[in-house]
Amino acid sequence: MTLPKHIAIIMDGNGRWAQLKRKPRTFGHIKGTRVAKKIITACSRQGIKNLTLYAFSTENWFRPQTEVSFLMKLLGRYLRKETENLVKENIRFSVIGDLSKLPSDVFQAIQKASETTAQCTGLNLVFALSYGSRQEITVAVREIAEKVARGEISPGQIDEAMISTSLSTYPTPDPDLIVRTSGEQRLSNFLLWQAAYSEFYFTEVLWPNFTEAHLDEALSAFSVRQRRYGKVATNDNLEKLSN
Ligand code: FPP
Repeated sequence: MTLPKHIAIIMDGNGRWAQLKRKPRTFGHIKGTRVAKKIITACSRQGIKNLTLYAFSTENWFRPQTEVSFLMKLLGRYLRKETENLVKENIRFSVIGDLSKLPSDVFQAIQKASETTAQCTGLNLVFALSYGSRQEITVAVREIAEKVARGEISPGQIDEAMISTSLSTYPTPDPDLIVRTSGEQRLSNFLLWQAAYSEFYFTEVLWPNFTEAHLDEALSAFSVRQRRYGKVATNDNLEKLSN
């Protein structure tokens, strides 16, 4: 089975899952964190090389303050508790996003988890935290413009590779598969540039109900997709294009 080298997941539906159970939304985030933990381990054990989880978007800061603080506490707690397990599973942890907005204890937990797992060679686990793709692209464009202004490069030298390497996701390869749970079918400012040739997999399953079996379904669906990258399928390149 062809495995994606990079899976990116929009973990959606925590709030609705909790509401259906007549519980506060925070209850859904707690279950969502447990599910994230299981899926991280499953991806690691299946030999997936890169996994990006959309844990908190730039827009999520506009949620009620109590929910934002709860999510931040949950993230901090997850990182402090899980760092040792990540090392055991040989998982390297890092974060993309605007970390300047995070509470200092969460920032420190991120630094610690990133440093402690830096030498791990298995799954590359990336949390998109306080992340917004348009903001990421804006920062990259600004950096490139500054290089032009300083005379280090000419505008003609700007190409796709330069933009890709200026994004916070570099050197992680573009996602082959983007999964979104809960029935919504949009990117919500997630990896806009990087998703140019990604396969999309949408499922009605709410994130807290997402299991390893659902992950396997997504992986099977991916393995039979024909990726043509805008080219035409011929008998000669059919196999190559699908690899
Ligand atoms: C979307 O559900 C989920 C989020 C905004 C946060 C995702 C966070 C977690 C799964 C927990 C933290 C993760 C880790 C890995 C520690 P929603 O609240 O938008 O649900 P709704 O669309 O039903 O309202």
